[in-house]
Amino acid sequence: MKICHTAADLARELAGAGRIAFVPTMGNLHEGHLALTRLARAKGDAVVASIFVNRLQFGPNEDFDRYPRTMDADRAGLERMGVDALFAPDEHEMYPVPQLYRVKPPPLGEELEGAFRPGFFDGVCTVVLKLFNLVRPQVAVFGKKDRQQLKIVRGMVQQFNLPIEIVGCETVRAEDGLALSSRNGYLTATERTEAPRLHRVLRGIADAIASGRRDYANLEADGRAELARHGWQVDYVAVRHGLGLRIPHPEAFDHPNLLIVLGAAKLGATRLIDNVDVVPMPDVD
Ligand code: PAF
Repeated sequence: MKICHTAADLARELAGAGRIAFVPTMGNLHEGHLALTRLARAKGDAVVASIFVNRLQFGPNEDFDRYPRTMDADRAGLERMGVDALFAPDEHEMYPVPQLYRVKPPPLGEELEGAFRPGFFDGVCTVVLKLFNLVRPQVAVFGKKDRQQLKIVRGMVQQFNLPIEIVGCETVRAEDGLALSSRNGYLTATERTEAPRLHRVLRGIADAIASGRRDYANLEADGRAELARHGWQVDYVAVRHGLGLRIPHPEAFDHPNLLIVLGAAKLGATRLIDNVDVVPMPDVD
Protein backbone atom coordinates (compact mmCIF):
# COMPACT_ATOMS: atom_id res chain seq x y z
CA MET A 1 0.00 0.00 0.00
CA LYS A 2 1.36 3.38 -1.00
CA ILE A 3 1.10 6.10 1.66
CA CYS A 4 0.71 9.63 0.34
CA HIS A 5 0.99 12.61 2.63
CA THR A 6 0.62 15.26 -0.05
CA ALA A 7 -1.88 15.92 -2.81
CA ALA A 8 0.98 15.90 -5.33
CA ASP A 9 2.09 12.41 -4.24
CA LEU A 10 -1.47 11.18 -4.39
CA ALA A 11 -2.00 12.56 -7.91
CA ARG A 12 1.20 10.82 -9.09
CA GLU A 13 0.16 7.55 -7.45
CA LEU A 14 -3.36 7.56 -8.87
CA ALA A 15 -2.48 8.51 -12.46
CA GLY A 16 -3.98 5.75 -14.64
CA ALA A 17 -5.44 3.90 -11.62
CA GLY A 18 -8.74 3.15 -13.38
CA ARG A 19 -12.00 3.30 -11.42
CA ILE A 20 -11.16 4.65 -7.97
CA ALA A 21 -13.30 3.66 -4.98
CA PHE A 22 -12.70 5.96 -2.02
CA VAL A 23 -13.21 5.49 1.72
CA PRO A 24 -12.80 8.74 3.70
CA THR A 25 -12.13 8.24 7.41
CA MET A 26 -10.79 10.02 10.46
CA GLY A 27 -8.74 6.98 11.44
CA ASN A 28 -8.87 4.83 14.60
CA LEU A 29 -10.19 2.16 12.29
CA HIS A 30 -12.41 -0.70 13.41
CA GLU A 31 -14.35 -3.48 11.68
CA GLY A 32 -16.93 -0.94 10.49
CA HIS A 33 -14.27 0.93 8.51
CA LEU A 34 -12.84 -2.32 7.20
CA ALA A 35 -16.32 -3.21 5.89
CA LEU A 36 -16.27 0.09 3.97
CA THR A 37 -12.99 -0.87 2.31
CA ARG A 38 -14.37 -4.35 1.48
CA LEU A 39 -17.35 -2.75 -0.26
CA ALA A 40 -15.02 -0.29 -2.01
CA ARG A 41 -12.92 -3.20 -3.29
CA ALA A 42 -16.03 -4.68 -4.92
CA LYS A 43 -16.81 -1.33 -6.58
CA GLY A 44 -13.51 -0.17 -8.03
CA ASP A 45 -10.18 -1.10 -9.60
CA ALA A 46 -8.18 0.81 -7.00
CA VAL A 47 -9.20 1.45 -3.39
CA VAL A 48 -8.05 4.66 -1.75
CA ALA A 49 -8.65 5.39 1.94
CA SER A 50 -7.96 8.68 3.67
CA ILE A 51 -7.21 9.40 7.30
CA PHE A 52 -7.66 13.00 8.34
CA VAL A 53 -9.10 14.27 11.61
CA ASN A 54 -10.97 17.28 10.31
CA ARG A 55 -10.89 20.16 12.77
CA LEU A 56 -13.62 21.97 10.79
CA GLN A 57 -16.32 19.50 11.84
CA PHE A 58 -15.61 19.66 15.58
CA GLY A 59 -17.25 22.22 17.84
CA PRO A 60 -15.13 24.19 20.32
CA ASN A 61 -16.13 21.91 23.24
CA GLU A 62 -15.87 18.64 21.34
CA ASP A 63 -13.19 15.98 21.27
CA PHE A 64 -10.89 17.15 18.44
CA ASP A 65 -7.77 17.15 20.63
CA ARG A 66 -8.42 13.79 22.25
CA TYR A 67 -9.83 12.08 19.13
CA PRO A 68 -7.82 8.81 18.97
CA ARG A 69 -4.96 8.92 16.47
CA THR A 70 -3.71 5.38 15.82
CA MET A 71 -1.86 5.65 12.52
CA ASP A 72 0.34 2.54 12.83
CA ALA A 73 -2.54 0.18 13.61
CA ASP A 74 -4.73 1.86 10.98
CA ARG A 75 -2.04 1.47 8.33
CA ALA A 76 -1.67 -2.24 9.14
CA GLY A 77 -5.46 -2.77 8.99
CA LEU A 78 -5.77 -1.05 5.61
CA GLU A 79 -2.81 -2.99 4.29
CA ARG A 80 -4.48 -6.25 5.39
CA MET A 81 -7.65 -5.20 3.56
CA GLY A 82 -5.69 -4.75 0.33
CA VAL A 83 -6.19 -1.00 0.13
CA ASP A 84 -4.02 0.36 -2.68
CA ALA A 85 -3.30 3.84 -1.40
CA LEU A 86 -3.71 5.73 1.86
CA PHE A 87 -3.97 9.50 1.72
CA ALA A 88 -2.91 10.87 5.11
CA PRO A 89 -2.44 14.61 4.79
CA ASP A 90 -1.59 16.87 7.72
CA GLU A 91 -3.62 19.95 8.51
CA HIS A 92 -1.35 22.23 6.52
CA GLU A 93 -1.76 20.05 3.43
CA MET A 94 -5.57 20.11 3.66
CA TYR A 95 -5.86 23.70 4.84
CA PRO A 96 -2.71 25.54 3.70
CA VAL A 97 -4.54 28.81 4.28
CA PRO A 98 -7.63 29.39 6.45
CA GLN A 99 -10.63 27.73 4.76
CA LEU A 100 -12.75 30.78 4.00
CA TYR A 101 -15.02 29.06 1.49
CA ARG A 102 -17.34 26.47 3.03
CA VAL A 103 -20.09 24.22 1.71
CA LYS A 104 -23.43 25.25 3.21
CA PRO A 105 -25.71 22.21 3.47
CA PRO A 106 -29.52 22.56 3.20
CA PRO A 107 -31.75 23.01 6.30
CA LEU A 108 -31.53 19.27 7.00
CA GLY A 109 -27.96 20.04 8.06
CA GLU A 110 -29.31 21.99 11.02
CA GLU A 111 -31.61 19.22 12.24
CA LEU A 112 -30.81 16.08 14.31
CA GLU A 113 -26.98 16.01 14.49
CA GLY A 114 -26.76 19.57 13.19
CA ALA A 115 -29.04 20.87 15.94
CA PHE A 116 -26.65 19.57 18.61
CA ARG A 117 -23.39 20.06 16.68
CA PRO A 118 -23.75 23.45 14.98
CA GLY A 119 -21.57 23.71 11.88
CA PHE A 120 -20.84 19.97 11.86
CA PHE A 121 -22.19 19.32 8.38
CA ASP A 122 -20.58 22.47 6.94
CA GLY A 123 -17.27 21.01 8.15
CA VAL A 124 -18.02 17.52 6.86
CA CYS A 125 -19.20 18.69 3.42
CA THR A 126 -16.28 21.09 3.04
CA VAL A 127 -13.64 18.46 3.77
CA VAL A 128 -15.42 15.75 1.77
CA LEU A 129 -15.63 18.06 -1.26
CA LYS A 130 -11.92 18.85 -0.92
CA LEU A 131 -11.07 15.14 -0.55
CA PHE A 132 -13.20 14.31 -3.60
CA ASN A 133 -11.32 16.95 -5.61
CA LEU A 134 -7.95 15.53 -4.53
CA VAL A 135 -8.76 11.81 -4.85
CA ARG A 136 -11.12 12.15 -7.85
CA PRO A 137 -12.97 8.89 -7.14
CA GLN A 138 -15.73 7.38 -9.25
CA VAL A 139 -17.24 5.78 -6.12
CA ALA A 140 -17.14 6.76 -2.45
CA VAL A 141 -18.33 4.60 0.45
CA PHE A 142 -19.86 5.98 3.66
CA GLY A 143 -21.23 4.11 6.69
CA LYS A 144 -24.97 4.04 7.38
CA LYS A 145 -24.32 4.58 11.09
CA ASP A 146 -23.88 8.23 10.10
CA ARG A 147 -27.13 8.14 8.16
CA GLN A 148 -27.63 11.91 8.04
CA GLN A 149 -24.05 12.39 6.83
CA LEU A 150 -24.63 9.83 4.08
CA LYS A 151 -27.82 11.61 3.01
CA ILE A 152 -26.24 15.07 3.05
CA VAL A 153 -23.11 13.99 1.15
CA ARG A 154 -25.30 12.26 -1.44
CA GLY A 155 -27.32 15.44 -1.83
CA MET A 156 -24.16 17.52 -2.21
CA VAL A 157 -22.87 15.21 -4.95
CA GLN A 158 -26.21 15.42 -6.79
CA GLN A 159 -26.54 19.21 -6.50
CA PHE A 160 -22.94 19.97 -7.49
CA ASN A 161 -23.07 17.43 -10.36
CA LEU A 162 -20.09 15.52 -9.05
CA PRO A 163 -19.65 12.33 -11.12
CA ILE A 164 -19.33 10.13 -8.02
CA GLU A 165 -21.52 7.23 -6.96
CA ILE A 166 -22.14 7.39 -3.21
CA VAL A 167 -22.54 3.95 -1.66
CA GLY A 168 -23.91 3.33 1.84
CA CYS A 169 -22.45 0.45 3.87
CA GLU A 170 -24.46 -1.35 6.55
CA THR A 171 -23.57 -0.59 10.17
CA VAL A 172 -21.29 -3.16 11.77
CA ARG A 173 -22.33 -4.05 15.32
CA ALA A 174 -20.79 -5.82 18.28
CA GLU A 175 -22.59 -9.01 19.31
CA ASP A 176 -24.64 -7.11 21.87
CA GLY A 177 -25.87 -4.69 19.19
CA LEU A 178 -23.65 -1.68 19.90
CA ALA A 179 -22.74 0.02 16.62
CA LEU A 180 -18.97 0.06 16.18
CA SER A 181 -17.55 3.55 16.54
CA SER A 182 -14.19 5.08 17.26
CA ARG A 183 -15.81 6.84 20.21
CA ASN A 184 -16.71 3.50 21.89
CA GLY A 185 -13.10 3.48 23.06
CA TYR A 186 -13.93 6.37 25.43
CA LEU A 187 -16.47 4.23 27.38
CA THR A 188 -15.63 2.89 30.82
CA ALA A 189 -16.30 -0.83 31.44
CA THR A 190 -19.63 -0.03 33.14
CA GLU A 191 -20.66 2.33 30.35
CA ARG A 192 -19.73 -0.27 27.74
CA THR A 193 -22.23 -2.67 29.36
CA GLU A 194 -24.94 -0.01 29.26
CA ALA A 195 -24.13 1.28 25.75
CA PRO A 196 -26.13 -1.31 23.69
CA ARG A 197 -29.31 0.12 25.21
CA LEU A 198 -29.28 2.87 22.58
CA HIS A 199 -29.65 0.29 19.82
CA ARG A 200 -32.24 -1.69 21.82
CA VAL A 201 -34.39 1.41 22.34
CA LEU A 202 -34.25 2.38 18.64
CA ARG A 203 -34.95 -1.22 17.59
CA GLY A 204 -37.88 -1.36 20.02
CA ILE A 205 -39.43 1.74 18.43
CA ALA A 206 -38.84 0.39 14.92
CA ASP A 207 -40.49 -2.91 15.85
CA ALA A 208 -43.45 -1.09 17.41
CA ILE A 209 -43.91 0.83 14.13
CA ALA A 210 -43.64 -2.42 12.16
CA SER A 211 -46.45 -3.84 14.30
CA GLY A 212 -48.74 -0.93 13.56
CA ARG A 213 -48.01 1.93 16.02
CA ARG A 214 -48.32 5.33 14.35
CA ASP A 215 -48.02 7.60 17.41
CA TYR A 216 -44.44 8.48 16.58
CA ALA A 217 -44.18 11.35 19.07
CA ASN A 218 -45.17 9.02 21.95
CA LEU A 219 -42.71 6.38 20.83
CA GLU A 220 -39.93 8.98 20.66
CA ALA A 221 -40.81 10.34 24.11
CA ASP A 222 -40.86 6.83 25.62
CA GLY A 223 -37.48 6.06 24.03
CA ARG A 224 -35.97 9.28 25.42
CA ALA A 225 -37.42 8.55 28.87
CA GLU A 226 -36.04 5.01 28.94
CA LEU A 227 -32.55 6.21 28.07
CA ALA A 228 -32.75 9.04 30.61
CA ARG A 229 -33.87 6.58 33.31
CA HIS A 230 -30.64 4.68 32.75
CA GLY A 231 -28.44 7.72 33.06
CA TRP A 232 -28.17 8.85 29.44
CA GLN A 233 -28.29 12.50 28.48
CA VAL A 234 -30.43 12.33 25.36
CA ASP A 235 -30.00 14.69 22.41
CA TYR A 236 -32.70 13.15 20.22
CA VAL A 237 -34.68 10.03 19.47
CA ALA A 238 -36.45 10.64 16.18
CA VAL A 239 -38.61 8.75 13.73
CA ARG A 240 -37.88 10.01 10.21
CA HIS A 241 -38.63 9.09 6.65
CA GLY A 242 -35.70 6.98 5.49
CA LEU A 243 -35.37 8.64 2.09
CA GLY A 244 -35.41 12.37 2.83
CA LEU A 245 -35.08 12.24 6.64
CA ARG A 246 -38.16 14.44 6.89
CA ILE A 247 -40.59 14.13 9.81
CA PRO A 248 -43.32 11.60 8.97
CA HIS A 249 -46.88 12.61 9.62
CA PRO A 250 -48.98 9.94 11.36
CA GLU A 251 -52.01 10.71 9.17
CA ALA A 252 -50.13 11.12 5.89
CA PHE A 253 -49.31 8.14 3.76
CA ASP A 254 -45.78 7.49 4.89
CA HIS A 255 -45.40 3.81 4.43
CA PRO A 256 -44.04 2.55 7.77
CA ASN A 257 -41.56 0.30 5.95
CA LEU A 258 -39.78 3.44 4.73
CA LEU A 259 -39.27 4.90 8.19
CA ILE A 260 -36.09 4.84 10.22
CA VAL A 261 -35.40 5.65 13.86
CA LEU A 262 -32.36 7.70 14.79
CA GLY A 263 -30.88 8.53 18.16
CA ALA A 264 -28.01 10.36 19.78
CA ALA A 265 -27.25 10.45 23.48
CA LYS A 266 -24.39 10.88 25.88
CA LEU A 267 -23.31 8.20 28.30
CA GLY A 268 -20.97 9.89 30.77
CA ALA A 269 -18.65 11.93 28.58
CA THR A 270 -19.19 9.85 25.44
CA ARG A 271 -21.71 10.80 22.78
CA LEU A 272 -23.04 7.87 20.75
CA ILE A 273 -25.29 7.85 17.70
CA ASP A 274 -27.14 5.07 15.93
CA ASN A 275 -30.11 4.42 13.66
CA VAL A 276 -32.18 1.46 12.51
CA ASP A 277 -34.58 0.81 9.62
CA VAL A 278 -38.13 -0.32 10.40
CA VAL A 279 -37.45 -2.92 7.71
CA PRO A 280 -34.11 -3.20 5.89
CA MET A 281 -34.10 -0.70 3.06
CA PRO A 282 -32.11 -0.65 -0.19
CA ASP A 283 -29.36 1.94 -0.37
CA VAL A 284 -31.19 4.63 -2.38
CA ASP A 285 -32.12 8.27 -1.86
O1 PAF B 1 -17.45 9.94 8.95
C1 PAF B 1 -16.31 10.41 9.12
O2 PAF B 1 -15.40 9.74 9.59
C2 PAF B 1 -16.04 11.85 8.75
O3 PAF B 1 -17.15 12.65 8.99
C3 PAF B 1 -15.54 12.03 7.30
C4 PAF B 1 -16.59 11.59 6.29
C5 PAF B 1 -14.27 11.22 7.10
C6 PAF B 1 -15.22 13.50 7.03
O4 PAF B 1 -14.23 13.98 7.88
